[in-house]
Amino acid sequence: MQLTDKIYYVGVNDRTKHRFEGQWHLPQGVSYNSYLVVDEKVALIDTVEADFFLEFLDKLHAVLGDRKIDYLVINHMEPDHSGSISLLRKYYPDVKLVGNKKTFGMVEGFYGEPTADDVEVTDGSELSLGSTTLQFHLVPMLHWPETMVSYLKEDKVLFSGDVFGCFGALNGNIVDRDMDTESYLPEMERYYAAILGKYGAQVLAGLKKLAPLEIEMICSTHGPVWTEHISTIIELYRRLGAGETEEGIVVAYGSMYGNTQRVAEAIAEGAAEAGVRKIVVHNLSVSQPSYVLRDIFRYKGLAIGGPTYNGELFPVVNDMMERLCGRKVSNHVLAAFGGFSWAGQAVKILEKYNERMKMEMVDAPVEWKQGANPDVLESARELGRRLAAAVKA
Ligand SMILES: Cc1cc2nc3c(=O)[nH]c(=O)nc-3n(C[C@H](O)[C@H](O)[C@H](O)COP(=O)(O)O)c2cc1C
Ligand SMILES: [Fe+2]
Ligand SMILES: [Fe+2]
Repeated sequence: MQLTDKIYYVGVNDRTKHRFEGQWHLPQGVSYNSYLVVDEKVALIDTVEADFFLEFLDKLHAVLGDRKIDYLVINHMEPDHSGSISLLRKYYPDVKLVGNKKTFGMVEGFYGEPTADDVEVTDGSELSLGSTTLQFHLVPMLHWPETMVSYLKEDKVLFSGDVFGCFGALNGNIVDRDMDTESYLPEMERYYAAILGKYGAQVLAGLKKLAPLEIEMICSTHGPVWTEHISTIIELYRRLGAGETEEGIVVAYGSMYGNTQRVAEAIAEGAAEAGVRKIVVHNLSVSQPSYVLRDIFRYKGLAIGGPTYNGELFPVVNDMMERLCGRKVSNHVLAAFGGFSWAGQAVKILEKYNERMKMEMVDAPVEWKQGANPDVLESARELGRRLAAAVKA
């Protein structure tokens, strides 16, 4: 698949993995994108997961025939992209690896590969391919320390690594203008929330650094190649990086016997009564964490609750709190709720978590003993109304 005069798509689709990084659900698969720039020199930008190497090799041969690959540019060392480095070097022994100082430490550590002949680049340095030039920009912690992006100056193409990546395999078409991108944009948010969500400050720093570049095409390592939606996805990243949210509420809960669920429903009803249109209720025993995280990143309000369970917070709710503490979500408004039957811990633990998350907390948490009776449900509706007011403020 030829993208421009000199750039070819040589990525693969993974439609069998259930969970990316062992945890994020992949109902529509994921692509590992790799690109060839064929000029006087041939540069390969990133590789694919090792399981897909044979398919990848066929794609390289289809474009290159017997031609050699001069450079392998390693924008990111996570094994979904670096996994084929060792095998690639067996088939292309003369390929020179291109990376920064941190990249090469990782190549050695992961693959035990010698890094003698390689091309070490620094921030802003360039590599001529003949009529075109690759320029490298280090974007540390997007989302690993060695992460960089590569810009093909003459063609105005940014090879952005995981930045602007999204879940969802590619269905024949590669470039956004040739396809219906509707399903990919929410998947870019889900990818962001799952994978980059801790690094909002670095996202903003990276966007600032890349702002002077004129970009006509963004080739990331997952999902479509972006041309006509570039401003949309940059704005999405800016908004997510800055922690900007929409007026809306996520009600997330876990429940064994339905009391917490009834309280969750009452909170949602209260918020609806107070005029919030966008309300998403997630049963954390059913909804996959990345979808919940995506919605929390999107909306300003979060009501979260669960029962006390063996003296702790119910596990799926506790898990979500841990995930939130590992992300940048402090611009939110929080409402907590939780029940118990003999010694309540759930609400206390939620409050403790918020010391780390630092969301603005709406008074007062709804805590109840045993059944969620009509008084409890009324205080839950009231909590929903108050959360709505804080979200609208
Ligand atoms: C397996 C299990 C463990 C529980 N552990 C505690 C506990 O340690 N302390 C407590 O006060 N209540 C405990 N409870 C009671 C629940 O927290 C309480 O009944 C709660 O309202 C249940 O909410 P639900 O109906 O949404 O599941 C436990 C209940 C179950 C089923
Ligand atoms: Fe990655
Ligand atoms: Fe990746």
